[in-house]
Amino acid sequence: MNILAIETSCDDTCVAVLKVGNCKLKILSNIVSSQVKIHAKYGGVYPTLAKREHQKNLPLVLKRALNKAKGPKVDLVAVTVGPGLDPCLWTGVNFAKDLAQKSDLSIIPVNHIEAHILANFINEQRTTNNEQLFPAICLVVSGGHTQLILMRGYGKYKILGETRDDAAGECFDKIARILGLGYPGGPLIAAEAAKLKTKNYQLKIKLPRPMIYQRNYDFSFSGLKTAVLYNFKSQSEKIRKSKKYIQAISAEAQQAIIDVLIKKTVRAAKDYKAKTIILGGGVAANDELRKQLMSNVKCQMSNVKFLVPPKKFCTDNGAMVAVTAYSHWFWGKEKKPKSVEANANLRLE
Ligand code: KG4
Ligand code: ZN
Repeated sequence: MNILAIETSCDDTCVAVLKVGNCKLKILSNIVSSQVKIHAKYGGVYPTLAKREHQKNLPLVLKRALNKAKGPKVDLVAVTVGPGLDPCLWTGVNFAKDLAQKSDLSIIPVNHIEAHILANFINEQRTTNNEQLFPAICLVVSGGHTQLILMRGYGKYKILGETRDDAAGECFDKIARILGLGYPGGPLIAAEAAKLKTKNYQLKIKLPRPMIYQRNYDFSFSGLKTAVLYNFKSQSEKIRKSKKYIQAISAEAQQAIIDVLIKKTVRAAKDYKAKTIILGGGVAANDELRKQLMSNVKCQMSNVKFLVPPKKFCTDNGAMVAVTAYSHWFWGKEKKPKSVEANANLRLE
């Protein structure tokens, strides 16, 4: 069986083809066409512009994905229906509906947050043994979301907490904009932070770790961004433009985000006696977050497994959508939904 998956929830136009045989999954193609250059001048994603680009890109990306997969016979269409930017989601949904209708195929609606979680299972074989992973605590960190989710099994989710304002990725993006680094901010902040040689300089800048000691699973990142803005404004022109300062404030801001994410995730895992911690979403591509969360899990909860997808499956892609659709199909959920509609505010519950 081959699943063709479409993902257009934000600013990446993605199409993937997944081959399933004997419970074994093989990604035949996974094409991501990024709109980064177009949105860079706005410092964030401009929805109507993103929609127009998706409309333009989808036929081309589809062609590339089918060519790369060597013209497979498609058996099922999957599409992200939410959460995300409304005009972008509808573009993908309408495109998928059209494709499915023309070839008389079923269409499986996919939740973007679930897809970020199940990106961890792209190379896994589906067996009931996977049940040994649960309960799991999932940390989904992207440009639009920051959520801690209790996963009791495939399709069984409960949102324990989430950001009350900016998402972690959004915080990276806004800080990068303040520092004049460009967009998307996450990889740029991470690169500046990695250049910092003397950690001593970092000590001079102390940023807040919002809500870190609150005994809940919620987050708040807008205060951190404001603290960066105040710090930046308080510096002289010369310091603001110095490499050392940019590197130091990037390192401290990145560490502040990581500290809060790790503290709350580890606490949730302990509270719910989790067998696994699952990381996903664009910010999961951050090397320091991956490294530090893994070492915290090892030190503090040595019997807990830690899962994180390869970096290319952390940021938006079609492969994660295909795998999620396959999971629904495999676990017998929603084989033939009555209607497929985009829902920008879709929740994973
Ligand atoms: O999941 P994603 O591709 O799109 C959304 O669903 O939002 O996540 C994009 C976000 C952006 O905010 C980007 O800055 C962030 O992920 N990101 C990173 C890194 N790579 C991407 N943040 C920190 N470090 C990275 N290496
Ligand atoms: Zn995403």
